[in-house]
Amino acid sequence: MRIADFVAASLSAALLVIAPAANAADPIVIKFSHVVAPDTPKGRAAEKFKALAEQYTDGKAKVEVYPNSQLYKDKEELEALQLGAVQMLAPSLAKFGPLGAREFEVFDFPCIFSDTASLHAVTQGQIGKDLLAKLDPKGIVGLAYWDNGFKIFSANKPLKTPADFKGVKMRIQSSKVLEAQMRSLGAIPQVMAFSEVYQALQTGVVDGTENPPSNMYTQKMHEVQKNATLSNHGYLGYAVITNKNFWEGLPADVRAGLEKAMAEATEYANEIAQKDNDDALAGMKASGKTDFFQPSAAERGALCKAMESVYTDMADRVGGKDFLDKVRTAAGTAN
Ligand code: LMR
Repeated sequence: MRIADFVAASLSAALLVIAPAANAADPIVIKFSHVVAPDTPKGRAAEKFKALAEQYTDGKAKVEVYPNSQLYKDKEELEALQLGAVQMLAPSLAKFGPLGAREFEVFDFPCIFSDTASLHAVTQGQIGKDLLAKLDPKGIVGLAYWDNGFKIFSANKPLKTPADFKGVKMRIQSSKVLEAQMRSLGAIPQVMAFSEVYQALQTGVVDGTENPPSNMYTQKMHEVQKNATLSNHGYLGYAVITNKNFWEGLPADVRAGLEKAMAEATEYANEIAQKDNDDALAGMKASGKTDFFQPSAAERGALCKAMESVYTDMADRVGGKDFLDKVRTAAGTAN
């Protein structure tokens, strides 16, 4: 056999091994990777989506959910989605900066939403739609917003007034607005992947953090945080995203089934989020490991006021004051 023939024969044999011809009956596999525990709002909603998607596509799609950073950590999962190594993610809105979609950090502004209705006025309205559309040029389709909840501060000392934050090392998600928020309080922000937070708190690499109760409880952070402040000072929630090439290459009937499943999973996510957070808080209170401080309206107001400089310093980060004002107006929190 000539060398060229031999090489050609070996190559086609190798290709057969790596890329076996897809059997028409093989389901389309959707890997859905995320970083939180299965028993959180996002974890449960991902499982709900799996069940509905497999049902509505008559098994033509198979969803594999990988929780707890099993496959990828925060930053890696976004790269994996763009490369097509996974097909679906639901990163927190604070993690879209590295994709170049900085406008999403508008959700990180301190005290920008007064409650869930004020949040939904943005996520479920035109602004929410326009934001998801901004992902399109990045090769990503934004499918939905899933709620988690409002964040509480925690540390190994009481954080009751702005002065208490001075010099405290606080873990944050990868958002410049969150960095500015911590600096406005005199704290020292440190970006860190979610999967590393428990150990960093345990070993004192950082002193404290912020998260909704569901994340704090399911990662057992309350076991290594003596104090928490029920400040609800900021919001943490998700955008469910998929790879655009993958999504647009799906057979129309499969995509329609997945869209229906996503709409119902989204309703479910937003229904359970508040209760999950309430239950998590009750669980942590019952464990007796963390002392929870409930600020009065005036005490919470003082924290919000201390963080107000973020609005002037970071308006440009999210596309300018006009956009920021538009979001505040929709949220009902404009000054
Ligand atoms: C965090 O990193 O604190 C959160 O974004 C984790 C998550 O996905 O809820």
